[in-house]
Amino acid sequence: MSRRYSKASSPGKFILLGEHAVVYGKPAVALAIDKRFRCKISPSYGNFLNGMEMDLSRHPHIRHLMLRNRVNNISIETESNIPSSSGLGSSGALSSAISAAIKDLNNEIFNKEEIAKDSFSAEYHAQGRASPLDTSCCTFGNGVALNCPAECGKRLMSIEKDGNRWDINQISVPKMTFVVGYTGIKAPTGPLVNKVRKFKEHNRFASDIIDEIGKVTLEGVSSMMKNDIEQLGRRMTEDHKLLSILGVSCNELNKLVDASLQYSYGAKLTGSGGGGSMIALTDKPDKVCEAISLRGGTPFIVNTDVEGVKLEE
Ligand code: MEV
Repeated sequence: MSRRYSKASSPGKFILLGEHAVVYGKPAVALAIDKRFRCKISPSYGNFLNGMEMDLSRHPHIRHLMLRNRVNNISIETESNIPSSSGLGSSGALSSAISAAIKDLNNEIFNKEEIAKDSFSAEYHAQGRASPLDTSCCTFGNGVALNCPAECGKRLMSIEKDGNRWDINQISVPKMTFVVGYTGIKAPTGPLVNKVRKFKEHNRFASDIIDEIGKVTLEGVSSMMKNDIEQLGRRMTEDHKLLSILGVSCNELNKLVDASLQYSYGAKLTGSGGGGSMIALTDKPDKVCEAISLRGGTPFIVNTDVEGVKLEE
């Protein structure tokens, strides 16, 4: 480490279709959003996070990235407008940006594929199990599709783990308007991924639901490629129903999805569920925002078409 400091940022994301099932190698799509995690990392005489001594056992993503990149004694300053544990990619963005800054501090050439591998590894170890969906979206930005037909987009890379393989494509996304509704309930991803794993191990029916999510995702992707927004919205709502059967929705999410549907093409929870956020695809964003607020959620309109990880001056 010879540099004085390195700075990087990565966007948050939402999952359009396919969460949870993607952990088992099914197709999924995520879009980067205009909310970012930023960090500045400099060599130091101990490990510090935002001016406080860092207990690495409480920061598994950072710990993993430091060990993997053989760095110690660093000071990290962070700033983010992605609410944490909200289903909007806060840990994926953190992993991706911190990986980029650590690698830069180590004088490594900026390489998104290496950052995507690094941040997936951090997410996997912190969560106990994971797919590379969030971390590849936060790294490559815009839209990414995992295990979708080759013709939808350009192949970026492939990752294998636990007997699963994910082919990761960058996709072009038609202009669409999405509203996010945040329940205000923080729901860490690890326990929900674990819940689905146990359900799958003890109930054959769970595997059928996971297969069904995969099919609905492929239909949704095909509708998106044809610019058929109405069909895409229907597939999103179907996906929400399947995720509810899997046991990862909750009353608060169902209320916000239900309230949004009267003004939307479709709506669903996004991310691991159990709280966190939902998204609605709509051409009446103000009406959807109002409906979400009336049901106690915090709405915001998100812009997509957002750049992935980058080094900052
Ligand atoms: C969490 O944002 C998405 C999940 O599918 C977990 C993962 O893909 O690692 C629930």
